[in-house]
Amino acid sequence: MAAVISASMLSKHYGDLKAVDQVSLEVEEGSLFGLLGPNGSGKTTMIRMLTGQVRPTSGSGSVLGIDVIAHPVRVRQQIGIIPEQEAPPSFLTAEEYLAFVGKVRNIPAAKEKADWWFEFLEFPEKRDVLCKDLSRGTRQKLMFAQAFLHHPVLALIDEPLINFDPVMQKTVKGYLKEFVRDGGTVFLSTHILEIAEEICSEVAIIHHGRLVHTGPVAGILGQQKHLADFFLEVVGKGTHA
Ligand SMILES: Nc1ncnc2c1ncn2[C@@H]1O[C@H](COP(=O)(O)OP(=O)(O)OP(=O)(O)O)[C@@H](O)[C@H]1O
Ligand SMILES: [Mg+2]
Repeated sequence: MAAVISASMLSKHYGDLKAVDQVSLEVEEGSLFGLLGPNGSGKTTMIRMLTGQVRPTSGSGSVLGIDVIAHPVRVRQQIGIIPEQEAPPSFLTAEEYLAFVGKVRNIPAAKEKADWWFEFLEFPEKRDVLCKDLSRGTRQKLMFAQAFLHHPVLALIDEPLINFDPVMQKTVKGYLKEFVRDGGTVFLSTHILEIAEEICSEVAIIHHGRLVHTGPVAGILGQQKHLADFFLEVVGKGTHA
């Protein structure tokens, strides 16, 4: 299997703070890869570097074989992204926002694809509502839809499930599982360890910017441990942002 994400000694420093410190990892095609870690451990910074939104202080990274430092725009054209806690533009309706994404990404039959998402995530009645007037979970549905509207082969998604109710979590988990079954790859950060345990094939744990564990989830469950217990063992109690 080919690596679709490859990070080599990636670091991001903000002054004296090492937000990400020499992280190397590989994500194979077809994985549902979970990036775990306490608040402030560097997950979002890692995702921003891999999606060409933050320039690393040192190290290198490639996504779908494209260098993220040399060609950040090309990387973003290829992949789906859900940024951390980002809302769609307040002044567009839900439907206008997906049409906008369709135009920017040059997506064929974007209207039909958007219609499918309105039905699949059960919010067709909200299509003409301004994004500023949508509930938090509905805004998250839109962010989810925009990330997958162009049928990317790889999605990097930062806490994509946190605002969803249990029914919607189930729907979205099902979508992600099917997405990787069909050959796609997902790199997601999450604090919901039950979900990571259920859907991720592999996890990496970062703590104070450093990679402290990486490996298949089956290996952890094989030790008769839940991921949450394993996580607490690995990062200890002294976590802080
Ligand atoms: N632009 C920035 N300027 C200065 N410090 C930053 C910047 N972005 C992130 N940091 C710091 O880098 C560290 C890692 O932050 P990051 O957002 O990557 O953590 P995280 O693992 O995503 O946390 P959370 O679980 O709370 O989302 C934190 O200490 C944060 O304050
Ligand atoms: Mg974060």
